[in-house]
Order: sequence, then structure tokens, then C-alpha cells
Amino acid sequence: MENQPTVSCVETQVTNEYGIGMRIAIVLAFLILIPVLLPIAFVLLGLLFSFYLAGIVVFYIIERTTAPKGMYGDPHIKFQWLRAFINNVIASNVPHCQARFRRFLFRLSGITIGKRVFIGMNGYMEDYCPEHVVIEDNATISFRVTFVAHGVKRGKNLRVLIRSGAYVGAGCVILPGVTIGRKAVVGAGSVVVKDIPDGAVAAGNPARVLRWLEGYGPDTLAGKAPIVPVCKSENVNL
Ligand SMILES: CC(C)(COP(=O)(O)OP(=O)(O)OC[C@H]1O[C@@H](n2cnc3c(N)ncnc32)[C@H](O)[C@@H]1OP(=O)(O)O)[C@@H](O)C(=O)NCCC(=O)NCCS
Repeated sequence: MENQPTVSCVETQVTNEYGIGMRIAIVLAFLILIPVLLPIAFVLLGLLFSFYLAGIVVFYIIERTTAPKGMYGDPHIKFQWLRAFINNVIASNVPHCQARFRRFLFRLSGITIGKRVFIGMNGYMEDYCPEHVVIEDNATISFRVTFVAHGVKRGKNLRVLIRSGAYVGAGCVILPGVTIGRKAVVGAGSVVVKDIPDGAVAAGNPARVLRWLEGYGPDTLAGKAPIVPVCKSENVNL
């Protein structure tokens, strides 16, 4: 009985020493492994990025050597592959909080975008002839909106124009040659096949006018008002 406390004390000491040893070993392992693992991780990432860049270069060479001189007989559009990449791979996936950056990228890809325009995520912007998409000031394009400006008639790309203050609901498809009027609202999921007048609320497939915003309509002055250029994008000669 007298020996018991002594044994217990020894056991406690052994346990403590073992714990400290383990801790030191773990710290040492980290100290040794971090300088080894970090460069390996960087090298792997570098390799991945190089493969990625190489892929783009190969893709570019293949496209330049095998692609026809532009679809529908148009002259080949310069850097179409890169524009499409910026447009539909990077810009459309930029998160909501970076909407200004997304807008900048869309402009970079060739789309004409006015001031204070919001474009939501995961849309599909025209990437064959982005110059044919014009979005005026204060327009709102919700998420998953598709803009198409080519493919209606062979040899023709048609301008898609979103006039100032227009609102395009989520998941709409805007077809070539369509103009969405000033302050017009297009309901979610609509397929817009022909022009939507100023101040109209339209929806459906094909989109039809449901009603008019106050002050607009076929009989009002606003409904008949001549189209006045609102931002410089209007002067784009297409
Ligand atoms: C188009 C919209 C503005 C209409 O709103 P509203 O004027 O309040 O119209 P109502 O809800 O009274 O509907 C009127 C009629 O249009 C129909 N309708 C409404 N939205 C529609 C749509 N997107 N597609 C097809 N039909 C639609 C309704 O079924 C209704 O038909 P009915 O009269 O035969 O019953 C609205 O429905 C809409 O789609 N908003 C966009 C939402 C969106 O995209 N948000 C994204 C946020 S980033």
C-alpha cells in the first residue's frame, strides 16, 4: 500500500515526458515538412498551369489552322477563341460581389455596355460576334440570360440591343435582331423573338406584351416617341 503513490507518480512523469516528446516531434515534423511540401505544391500548381497554358496555345494553333474563315462566310473574327474564353468561361462565373469586374470582362470581350449596367451570373453572352450585343445605361440583366446575335440567316449577324433602363428577367433567351425597349420588363424564362416596345411588360415563349408601365403604351406619347440615342453605344455602326 505504501508503494502505490510512488508508482503512480512515476507513471505520471513518464506520461508527461511522452506527451512533450510527441509535441516536439509534431512541431519538428511540421518544420521539416512545410519547407519540403510547399515547394512541391508550388511545382505541381506550376505544372498544372503550364499544361493549361499549353492547352490554350494548342487550341489556338488548331483553331487558326483548321477553322474555316469564320462561320457563315464572315471574315474571321480576331481572337474569337480568347474572347469566348473571357466571355463564357471567366466573366459569366465571376461571383455576384464582383459584378463590376464581370462587366469589365464582358466589355473586354467586345460587348458594348453602358454605365450602371448589372449583368447576373451564368449568362451566355454572344461569343461569336460580341460586337453585335449592345446594352445601354441602367439596364439590368438577371442571371442565366442568353444573348444570341448570329445564326438566324446565313451570312448575317444581327444586333441585339437592350435599351436604357430595361430589365431582363432570369433565364431569358434574346434572339438575333431583337431590341428590348427603354424601361421594358421581360419576364423570367422568356424567349424574345421580336422587339419589345418601350415600357412594355412582356413574357412567355415567344414573349408577348402582358401590360404596360405607367405612361407607356401604344397610344401614349412615350409609346410613339422617336428613339433618341441614350449612350454612346447607340452610335455603334453595325
Ligand atoms: C414578367 C413579370 C414582371 C410579370 O409580373 P406581373 O406584372 O406581376 O404579372 P402577373 O404575375 O400578374 O402575371 C400576369 C400574367 O403573365 C403571366 N406571366 C407572368 N410572368 C411570366 C413569365 N415569366 N413567363 C410567362 N408568363 C408569365 C402570368 O401567368 C399571368 O398570366 P394570366 O393572366 O394568364 O394568369 C414577372 O412575372 C417576372 O417574370 N419577373 C422577373 C423575375 C426575375 O427574373 N427575377 C430575377 C431577379 S435577378
